[in-house]
Amino acid sequence: MDIPAGTLRLPARVHFGYGSRAQLGEVLGLGGRRVLAVVDPFLIETPIFGETVAGLTAAGFDVAVYSDIRPELPTESLDDAAAFAREHEPDVILAAGGGSALDAAKLVGLLVTHGGPLSRYYGENLVPGPVLPLVAVPTTAGTGSEVTPVAVVSDPERETKVGISSPYLIPVAAIVDPEFTLGAPRSVTAFAGIDALVHAVESFTAARLEQSWDGGLPVFTGRNAFTDAMALRAVERLGPSLPVAVGEPGDRRAREEVAFGSLLAGVCFGATGTHLSHALQYPIGAFTKTPHGLGTGLLLPYVLQACLSEPEVVERIAAVGAALGSTAATDDGRAGDAISSIVALNRVIGVPASLQEIGITREQLPQLAELASRSTRLIAIAPIPAPSATLLDILEHAYTGDLTERSDP
Ligand SMILES: NC(=O)c1ccc[n+]([C@@H]2O[C@H](COP(=O)([O-])OP(=O)(O)OC[C@H]3O[C@@H](n4cnc5c(N)ncnc54)[C@H](O)[C@@H]3O)[C@@H](O)[C@H]2O)c1
Ligand SMILES: [Fe+2]
Repeated sequence: MDIPAGTLRLPARVHFGYGSRAQLGEVLGLGGRRVLAVVDPFLIETPIFGETVAGLTAAGFDVAVYSDIRPELPTESLDDAAAFAREHEPDVILAAGGGSALDAAKLVGLLVTHGGPLSRYYGENLVPGPVLPLVAVPTTAGTGSEVTPVAVVSDPERETKVGISSPYLIPVAAIVDPEFTLGAPRSVTAFAGIDALVHAVESFTAARLEQSWDGGLPVFTGRNAFTDAMALRAVERLGPSLPVAVGEPGDRRAREEVAFGSLLAGVCFGATGTHLSHALQYPIGAFTKTPHGLGTGLLLPYVLQACLSEPEVVERIAAVGAALGSTAATDDGRAGDAISSIVALNRVIGVPASLQEIGITREQLPQLAELASRSTRLIAIAPIPAPSATLLDILEHAYTGDLTERSDP
């Protein structure tokens, strides 16, 4: 067994469960009375949001609502949001919506506190200090942004989306009430939910990084004793309940399971980081304009197949297989079952099985491998060495949907 060591950085409060939104006034009040609500556009007209704002107003909060959240979060849209925020002089930000709205709110807090341009902060640990306190209320179950130190934006001057990662971006509180996810459309549920599964699996299979306690720690520290204890619990919840939540959107129990699995997965990957499915999805998402989770979910079986080349990783993938219900007698059997279970899950919830199906051409593969190899932080967290040739090999298998074993591992 590994020697226990590790780092967890989390919101000071995390509330989970139906009805937990009733804690909102309590946690916002810790920051102050002037609230900037950065709100997903779909939420504005919903009764649940109307009641939430009415409750806060009645409790003495002064709430200004900003909801011009643009798809993919172009950087200039965040400058507009920050200008609106400065006029209101908030004490605290309420972020409510899907991952895009939560990330927008994180970046507004950053811009209001430390100024732009956002490009100053691209990468890791470049945020100079604390930002406006933020209370996050997700309405999708998938990104985990409510507990993570990262926000992702589109910069028109960059080929792929870029991340800003800093412990200062972790919300001060997360309120995860599955009630907010009940109306999410089928495809949003599927792609957000499969991304949560990828977070859990990539966290559990991440490299264990050598941790030096002297000086500054990296934002993402590789798998550790805390995340090992939680990542498979996320897989156990998400595997069986995600197809139900997609097929029967009103199933409260399935929504609850998926939301909890997503939250656990966020806690895990917010500490460990993710790896190859994410490194490869960033350029694929930029080329095809397909949702983040569609890409990470599509890629995960091919990434795991490539990771079978390392015997130590087989054991971990086997544990994922067991969490997804495999009763095979050997590690090899359970690891194989892990991959086939994820393929089956993708098929049931509508995640395409190959890159050809989403419009990628074979000629694009070398360029995609090259762009993915620039995500050096993600590549370093992978459990296998992943030079460009390995990335290209994964892409070639994913291109045709080939999950046969490699002959020369
Ligand atoms: N910060 C992180 O840790 C992190 C992790 C993974 C992904 N991301 C980012 O999150 C984004 C994806 O987030 P997402 O999957 O939550 O999707 P999203 O926030 O982009 O939302 C997708 C669509 O669903 C709508 N929607 C959201 N919740 C709904 C609900 N309950 N009912 C009806 N409609 C609803 C939104 O208005 C939007 O139109 C990407 O930009 C990705 O890069 C961030
Ligand atoms: Fe993701």
